[in-house]
Amino acid sequence: MVSYILAIFLLKIYLINLRVKMKKLKIGICGWGNVATGLFNTIENNNKFIKSNGNLEIEIVVIGARRDNPKCDPGAVKIERDIFDVIDHDIDVVVELIGGVDVARDLILKSINKKKHVVTANKAVLFHHGDEIFKEANSNGVKILFESSVCAGTPIIKLLTEELSANKVTKIAGMLNGTSNFILSNMEEGSDFKPTLELAQKEGYAEPDPTFDIEGMDAAHKIGILSSLAFGTPLPPDDFYIEGISKIEKIDFKYAKDMGFTIKHLAVSKLNQDKIELRAHPVLIKKDSYLANLKSVRNGIEVETDLLGTLHIAGSGAGQESTASGVISDLVNLANSNDNILELDSNRNIELVDFMSLSFQYYFYIESNITPEAVEKITSIFAKKKIALESIAHKEDSKENISHIIVITDLFLERELQYLYENILNLESVNKIRSIRIESN
Ligand code: HSE
Repeated sequence: MVSYILAIFLLKIYLINLRVKMKKLKIGICGWGNVATGLFNTIENNNKFIKSNGNLEIEIVVIGARRDNPKCDPGAVKIERDIFDVIDHDIDVVVELIGGVDVARDLILKSINKKKHVVTANKAVLFHHGDEIFKEANSNGVKILFESSVCAGTPIIKLLTEELSANKVTKIAGMLNGTSNFILSNMEEGSDFKPTLELAQKEGYAEPDPTFDIEGMDAAHKIGILSSLAFGTPLPPDDFYIEGISKIEKIDFKYAKDMGFTIKHLAVSKLNQDKIELRAHPVLIKKDSYLANLKSVRNGIEVETDLLGTLHIAGSGAGQESTASGVISDLVNLANSNDNILELDSNRNIELVDFMSLSFQYYFYIESNITPEAVEKITSIFAKKKIALESIAHKEDSKENISHIIVITDLFLERELQYLYENILNLESVNKIRSIRIESN
């Protein structure tokens, strides 16, 4: 009895010690832009929560900043003008927030070789060099964490690799670029593309070169990483259809709405028989669907699993605070786990589906100045390819003296699209054509 009470007493002391023994990490931040200064401020402002919830004290030892940032005073923290000098300091972790690919790869590999753990928000460098980086980290016994590389602080990486580890994942589909969703949902409310993009840049959502956001590359990097984690697809993938939102116009939202749809940018990685379908492009999706109702800079992901069914995750997918939240979650994870955590493993010989072999229903917007003739000829072009039309309608635009011909097709093979474009645009009565795929569910 006495030894039983003693054992309980010792266990309690052990548990109390476990709880109170605060972990400490010394970090060096590389980069001093929007994201890095956001991290600096968040570590200062939310210090209380990081300590009480994460059991972690973070000491910022050094910052690699090529130049000062007038928006943030680093106080007494040592500044290195050459970001590579950060690695030489007495730190446990290099937090890579410089973005870009080549210099970031170099910095990460050098950090690994100096036995520093790396936390990065950089999806582009992982997309292009993930395999190499993880191999190096493994052989040097250090960890790479990258929660904020996909959806910023909205948790998906650890969720996929830890919480869902007992599940067979069959599909991941989501709006992974905050800037695109910000632009599209503002256009849906009547704003124009260009000023909305400028606003996204001002708010710090868009990449330094916003081409990556609006042409689909950023979302492609993110789904590439998720796909590699969930299915082992190669990085970079060898067959990947990528299209951005830059060709969408306000009028498309009106026609989409009339038919019960809205327009989103969707990135998909999906088990398709024994291969993986990987694509990132704009879609028409049903207005009442979960993803359709996520507005502004929010990201949203649906994960289809065997044990949980469909899981929905949504949250801010860009910006200083959200990214800081993801980076800090990695630091907490790093400090509180002993084992080797996740690794991108793209050597599982997984083949990608040939995009041209997929079938989609389509929305077409066609502009014409000789309506009846154009409608007849367009219908016969689709008929020639045996593509059935769900509807074909035209609306007069009296101001421009043209008509808009709106076509909704049945499913047809992606490889027929080019033929349709060439032949419809060849018609004398047609001035303009664009199309958006319709996502089936
Ligand atoms: N430019 C990115 C976006 C930032 O808009 O989603 C977060 O990765």
